[in-house]
Amino acid sequence: MIEGKRVGANQAAGIATCVLLVACGGQDLSSADPDLLNTTPSYARDVRPILRQHCESCHASYGPILNGVELDAYQSAYSNRVRVVCTAVAEDRVSDYADALRPAPRLGVERPPCDGFAIDSMPPGTQPRLTAAEQLVLLRWTATGANP
Ligand code: HEC
Repeated sequence: MIEGKRVGANQAAGIATCVLLVACGGQDLSSADPDLLNTTPSYARDVRPILRQHCESCHASYGPILNGVELDAYQSAYSNRVRVVCTAVAEDRVSDYADALRPAPRLGVERPPCDGFAIDSMPPGTQPRLTAAEQLVLLRWTATGANP
């Protein structure tokens, strides 16, 4: 896969594993490369290539910035991270990362994970979903501090 060249070796292996799983009809994240569960992804190295491939045609400073979501710059991706990850991952993964995916409290009241965001809605329409391994990179990124 072309994007495999732009991610770390662990992620590349995870994506490769995932491709095999998809070919066999599965999309089970827990079967993606277990090494992925120990990574601390960074925006520049791991996350940006995924966003570039799946999202930037509609959400980048050099093109349309739909809904004010600009994903080609770290600062913007960081401040939008909860809604970005919520919209891009499968519903059954959200509870595993509940704390990382809680929007800011409203009027001092803690909110449920992904509250107010349409889970698994991006990219829209018939565009391919993120692979299981790519979703895991985004989830790990938010859960480990959303580093640059
Ligand atoms: C083909 C264009 C297109 C692509 C590709 C695309 N989006 Fe979107 N996105 C939209 C449109 C249109 C909206 C506004 C309408 C809506 O919310 O459905 C939107 C809205 C959003 C929102 C705001 C939702 C909210 O509730 O605040 C987020 C976050 C988002 N997109 C993230 C992503 C991510 C992450 C990807 C890649 C995984 C992505 N988008 C790929 C078109 C796109």
